[in-house]
Amino acid sequence: MNECYTNKTQENLHAAFAGESMANRKYLYFAKIARELGNEEVAKLFEETANQETSHAFAHLDLIYPKEEMTVEKLLEIAIEGELYETNQMYPEFERIAQEEGNLAAVQKFQEQASESAGHAEIFQKAAKRFGALTKVEAFHASRYQRALDNVKSTSSR
Ligand SMILES: [Fe+2]
Ligand SMILES: [Fe+2]
Repeated sequence: MNECYTNKTQENLHAAFAGESMANRKYLYFAKIARELGNEEVAKLFEETANQETSHAFAHLDLIYPKEEMTVEKLLEIAIEGELYETNQMYPEFERIAQEEGNLAAVQKFQEQASESAGHAEIFQKAAKRFGALTKVEAFHASRYQRALDNVKSTSSR
């Protein structure tokens, strides 16, 4: 997580959101494997539970990003921030460690996904430009990010 938390509960909400989100994707993956292994009943069980995990994740998001505080610009900003964090900080660091540990499959996966994250950031940046949000987002530290958000707020309140 790249965000600055204002308190422990905010941090816990992010952790809970992460956990429920992971459960969702994990159970979908398990469903796929169970189906490939020929057990349709267990596959369906995993899929149904995965849907409930999505509701749990969304419930945490309601508190992390309250709807009444969101604008389209802000949504794009948050998304760009996350993708830039992945591409500039998270994956390079993970790649470095994977190199050190000699896990070449992981090195390759981290490189691929870093570039996919860069692609996503670019798509969101283009959308932000189209919708008149920030024209350039290069910040990936929380403090710089906050300034960017403040800019959006002051431009949109003009
Ligand atoms: Fe859950
Ligand atoms: Fe992404």
